[in-house]
Amino acid sequence: MWGIILNSFWLILPAYCANFIPVFIRGKRPLDRKRNFIDGRRWFGDGKTFEGLIGGTLFGVLVGLIQVFLQQNYLSGFSLLTFQHTYLTIFVLSFGALLGDLAGSFFKRRFNLKRGDPAPLLDQLDFLIFSLAALSVFQAIPLYWILFLVIITPVIHKTANVIGYTIKVKREPW
Ligand code: CTP
Ligand code: MG
Repeated sequence: MWGIILNSFWLILPAYCANFIPVFIRGKRPLDRKRNFIDGRRWFGDGKTFEGLIGGTLFGVLVGLIQVFLQQNYLSGFSLLTFQHTYLTIFVLSFGALLGDLAGSFFKRRFNLKRGDPAPLLDQLDFLIFSLAALSVFQAIPLYWILFLVIITPVIHKTANVIGYTIKVKREPW
């Protein structure tokens, strides 16, 4: 039980960090360059920017590098921690998270939802599913870890967004 919780969080930390930092960056250059998709609506909208994509990936990788450092220097005798990050896992998880967030916005625009409109579960899970799917290309992830993360992530996401909204870094409380 503790192994599932510990390893799941250790694994997903770069993706979480990559996903939350763009809201502080307040990027100005939309990834879709304000262009529309064939349905006449924006590809992604103004909430998905180059600055957010690059800054989020870099921050996730930075946190992952700290994890790799800790693994090598302090955690090698800690037998409960079976998942080990590498340069590959931290990049794949961070970039995967941002791509998932982008894909989520793509689908939101297709359903005619405006920037910032809530899309329950999609808003909370898009980055998670994408980062886990991307990682699973390179290595198997235990099913219990995935189940745990799918259940706990919306709860953490909601809590973080309410806090973000309260301290006024987030435009909406979701
Ligand atoms: N952000 C960014 N670039 C990204 C992702 C996010 O600049 N690639 C910033 C934007 O300022 C965005 C904020 O982070 O408004 C919060 O992200 P998110 O909730 O994913 O975007 P929304 O504004 O809610 O837009 P959407 O409806 O497309 O989800
Ligand atoms: Mg949103």
